[in-house]
Amino acid sequence: MPSTFRVAVLLSGNGSNLQALIHKQKHFNYQIAGVISNCVGAFGLVRAEKAGIDHYTLPHKNYTDRKIFDSELIKIIDNLQVDLVVMAGFMRILTADFTRYYQGKLINIHPSLLPAYRGLNTHRRVLEAGEKQHGASVHFATEELDAGAIIARVSVQISPADNELSLKQKVQQMEHLLYPLIIKWFAENRIQQKNNVVWLDNKPLPSLGYQYTHQQLINQAKG
Ligand code: GRF
Repeated sequence: MPSTFRVAVLLSGNGSNLQALIHKQKHFNYQIAGVISNCVGAFGLVRAEKAGIDHYTLPHKNYTDRKIFDSELIKIIDNLQVDLVVMAGFMRILTADFTRYYQGKLINIHPSLLPAYRGLNTHRRVLEAGEKQHGASVHFATEELDAGAIIARVSVQISPADNELSLKQKVQQMEHLLYPLIIKWFAENRIQQKNNVVWLDNKPLPSLGYQYTHQQLINQAKG
């Protein structure tokens, strides 16, 4: 029997995505081998503890040098012997040394339809711009923030009644379905990255990745 696909999760805060990943790990045949936070007291660490998952805190505030922080982070991750490093609300810019070291094995989830709205406060900015659609994207992480090759996106419709909080909730519900599914694809060895192009089932994906609507993703999760 092949060994279980092992995942490390990096986070800084609440960890609702971690919770979704925990929920699906048995069903989707991957195992969260460890959770690492750069913030002391992140609620994601409590979620890891409750689920019996090894967890570590590496406070970035103790490091004046980004390279040293990143090399300590590599030590913790490598001790966990993982196949994939998953950033889930990890609010930290990583050095090129770090992202190159894990090239093809480091992914992030971002609350926008990338390449639009990189960076922070996406829900507010999308509303201010009067957009009709918003969503979330899973992408390979590179040294450039929210800019690596896109694996998949899920879109949601913005209604006139939406505010920043309701939109965040709508998008996060989709994140919680999308992220475990993408990790399942990795665990099944269905995803590769070649020359900045993402391949799914030995076919190149378009540059915006695999596209789900809100309803398609809900149907997929049910099936
Ligand atoms: C998510 O919205 C994710 O897209 C972004 O950070 C947020 C983390 O939320 N990268 P949580 O900590 O998983 O609840």
